[in-house]
Amino acid sequence: MGQPLPVKYVMEGSYGPEVVLSGRRYVNFGGCGYLGLHGHPDVLRAAAEAVQRYGLSCGLSRHYSVSSGPLLEAEARAAEFFATESALCLPTGYLVATVLAWGLADRVDAVFLDSTAHYSVCDAASLLGKPVFRFAHCDGADLRRQLASHLRPGERPLVMSDGVFPTFGEIAPVHEYLAAVEPHDGQIVLDEAHSVGAVGPHGWGSFDHHGVSSPRIHFGGTLSKAFGAHGGVIPGERAWIDRLRTCPTVRGATAPAVPCAAAAAKSLEIAKQQPELRDRLWANVRMLRDGLRPLGIDTGHTESPIVTFDPGSAEETARMHQGLLDRGFFVYLSHYVGASPGGVLRHAVFANHTAEHIQRLLEAVGELL
Ligand SMILES: Cc1ncc(COP(=O)(O)O)c(C=O)c1O
Repeated sequence: MGQPLPVKYVMEGSYGPEVVLSGRRYVNFGGCGYLGLHGHPDVLRAAAEAVQRYGLSCGLSRHYSVSSGPLLEAEARAAEFFATESALCLPTGYLVATVLAWGLADRVDAVFLDSTAHYSVCDAASLLGKPVFRFAHCDGADLRRQLASHLRPGERPLVMSDGVFPTFGEIAPVHEYLAAVEPHDGQIVLDEAHSVGAVGPHGWGSFDHHGVSSPRIHFGGTLSKAFGAHGGVIPGERAWIDRLRTCPTVRGATAPAVPCAAAAAKSLEIAKQQPELRDRLWANVRMLRDGLRPLGIDTGHTESPIVTFDPGSAEETARMHQGLLDRGFFVYLSHYVGASPGGVLRHAVFANHTAEHIQRLLEAVGELL
């Protein structure tokens, strides 16, 4: 059990590069709106029209083989975006790792888990009911060592990891994991919650960033971050997705809510038709990183839209965080998975941040150093 998490801010309007929280307007570097689609008028209109026409849901679990039109549309648009035969949408991205791992249960004997994997990936690993071993964070050499010391002859590993990590934005070295599992006939599950839509030449995630593809790699992500909608998504070959549809977690639950599915269909369509959104996102990421470097701030070497730094002590982190809030910038003092005990300052960059938003943030950080 962690500390209770009281609500500190009430969002009084829609989420985007500027937000109103508890009566005050902030330039927003919090959250995960990487492609800037959360308040997109076409996405909101699609959701509103769908709820007027179809209501909220089909009113029965998926087991009964009834689907709303917007859900079929969202799954078709997801398959198009990810250039796969098929795709499965889920009510939340939290379920992605559980459903993927379930689909591989009879093909693996032991789980090897990144030591700072997201809660959802850890839950999925333990639900499988197989031995779980942890390897050092993003460390392909340690993974090989763990495989060598724990696998018995003939046993097949399942490696589970975030594709991009939520706090510092590190990208998992998937090419190293693939080389490590191949000799053992192993599989890989990647939670690409923070990368789908944003990372890699096609916006498919960490494996796309590393230029690897393999039938051993199974991935999914969320529609609630870069895509600005809501729910989970698993793209893949038709036979794989058909198998996952029979997972109790999928068939025993009501499908994603209709307005969420309609919003997802529209945002996936926009992300596919407008690759320039990713160009804008990366120009903004470069501007922020390039502006922080001369201030002596180390934001690591990752190529993700998460720009995080650790000011040192808990007191210093809290002082800078308060200083940014006072100057009208909403950033996270994050204690999320992977953060140091005193917390870190996490900035999420969006495609629809303006150069002025970023310049003003850089000036504010400079004043607080
Ligand atoms: C790495 C990671 N995986 C999964 C999730 C869950 O996704 P969702 O919010 O769609 O349930 C999150 C949520 O923030 C996340 O950070």
